[in-house]
Amino acid sequence: MCGIVAYIGQKEAYPIVLKGLKRLEYRGYDSAGVALINNGLQVYKKKGKVAELEDHVSSKDMRSHIAIGHTRWATHGEPSDRNSHPHVSGNGKLAMIHNGIIENYAQLKQELLSKGHTFKSDTDTEVLIHFIEEIQQNNNCSLEEALRIALKRVVGAYVIVIVDEDHPDTLIAARKGSPLVIGVGKGEHFLASDASPIVEYTKEVVYVNDYEIAIIKADELILKNISNEIQTPYIQKLDIELAAIEKGGYDHFMLKEIFEQPQTIFDSLRGRLDAKKGILTIGGIREHAEMLSKAKRIIIVACGTSWHAGLVAEYMIEELCRIPVEVEYASEFRYRNPVVGPGDVIIAVSQSGETADTLVAIESAKQKGAIILGVCNVVGSSIARLSDAGVYTHAGPEIGVASTKAFTAQLAVLCLVGLKVAMLKGSITEQRFQHLLDELENIPEKVAATLKLNDRIKEIAAKYKDARDFLYLGRGYNFPVALEGALKLKEISYIHAEGYPAAEMKHGPIALVDENLPVVFVATRDSYYEKVVSNIQEIKARKGKVIAVITEGDQVIPGMADDIIVVPEADELVAPIISVIPMQLLAYHIGVLKGFDVDKPRNLAKSVTVE
Ligand code: G6P
Repeated sequence: MCGIVAYIGQKEAYPIVLKGLKRLEYRGYDSAGVALINNGLQVYKKKGKVAELEDHVSSKDMRSHIAIGHTRWATHGEPSDRNSHPHVSGNGKLAMIHNGIIENYAQLKQELLSKGHTFKSDTDTEVLIHFIEEIQQNNNCSLEEALRIALKRVVGAYVIVIVDEDHPDTLIAARKGSPLVIGVGKGEHFLASDASPIVEYTKEVVYVNDYEIAIIKADELILKNISNEIQTPYIQKLDIELAAIEKGGYDHFMLKEIFEQPQTIFDSLRGRLDAKKGILTIGGIREHAEMLSKAKRIIIVACGTSWHAGLVAEYMIEELCRIPVEVEYASEFRYRNPVVGPGDVIIAVSQSGETADTLVAIESAKQKGAIILGVCNVVGSSIARLSDAGVYTHAGPEIGVASTKAFTAQLAVLCLVGLKVAMLKGSITEQRFQHLLDELENIPEKVAATLKLNDRIKEIAAKYKDARDFLYLGRGYNFPVALEGALKLKEISYIHAEGYPAAEMKHGPIALVDENLPVVFVATRDSYYEKVVSNIQEIKARKGKVIAVITEGDQVIPGMADDIIVVPEADELVAPIISVIPMQLLAYHIGVLKGFDVDKPRNLAKSVTVE
């Protein structure tokens, strides 16, 4: 949700910031801008992708040793040149980039208007930089002091970075609620929303904490809290490699990430699962495992694809552990004043670990006495840090906006957690426990086999790409897979798609069925299989086109479906990790065949750091 980048040091700042913006474009891409100091403050911004900004400044003198850059996902004000960041103070000396939302901006704007300020944009960001300028002028104080005073009045979430024409040797940044990483180089510093723009220059980073202000020069980094007390920066080593954030020969990040799944699932199990010895070790929950097994109930909170992983986990954990599980949209859970307290365990599932709805949901549950278990992909992310215990998914950086490899890693990890708790609780037989460990261990290989169906799925995509709507149906463990299939298609091909429990379909969506409606059935062999076969017949009786994902050896569905995708057999509890692969590939190919930018679908952002 907006990407920010900044550089200060001996090198040319603009090329570094531009490259960083391209790496962060997955966070938002409706407009982009940069500010640098070269004969005074220069600000360039453009609606559209970063490449358009690059064209726009191609003939300009961009030399500078300090620069800030921003790629935007619009909240306040439509995507346009004038609403793009950086925003500038009234005297034209300060430029600011911002990720987050200033909730009380309307009130601040009113105050500033009455004092004669005028605004060029509709953004909350421009209000904040004017507010800081106003404080600085009234108090005749430094920018740092003015920022500190301003932030005490600001309600909302932010990362901001400011350059000041009068101090071209200093960047000032502050964080509350949105992520900020500072890369520490030799005589240079890099700032960014995540580590991806930094990793090729330095592996030493500082994660700025909430309510901290950073004063950054080429060779000096000072961190202070909002009460002006100096904080010691905690320098950490980045554990990602540059290759992990590049396309590596694939046409799109999404395809690369789909194809990485045998490895990423393996990575999420590595060191935790030893099927031969029948051992399951999850370091991140060791101290809380006993308490987890005694939980009154488990509430899973998440958004988007992670919410779908939560739904699968509900089926898994209830079956394995016999503990009641509820799965909640984080945004709804937080605001309906839920009944939650000691004895409840909240599992927060989030790829980025920064999703604002999930973050505030767990903050309030924690205050009420619940224990928080984080299942995150990004190490050191806000949700991971707020959690009492956690298990990282280890899927590596996910750049494609539509989540793929993070989902399968979440399923693998949530299954491990369910098994661990079941074992402690004694709610699973030793035989079933061992069987599921074996099944999990074999999953990467079966996913690799499923990926070999890519060409077949591309043909199916070509056949149905012009459909106006799609229906996705499944039951039991495959119901959330149907939801995820529909979400993937919507996100990247802009075709309307609905996911539904296959049985519930007859209570409404069946009215949509005719010879033009493709219906994707996730119909692998499981305890619901016979019932799903009946549902397929109901669709065929109304001339719907059936695309069925089935298990190898199935003799029945091939005679009924228009198209089949045959995947390896697996226990129903882990089968979603396999059956979701064709969903991802089908959506990918339809999106590409329709000519869309599947890595950056319109209106979406990878990491939604606003509520
Ligand atoms: C955004 C992304 C989705 C993602 C959701 C939750 O909407 O576009 O792909 O599933 O956020 O993100 P999280 O990082 O919390 O898993």
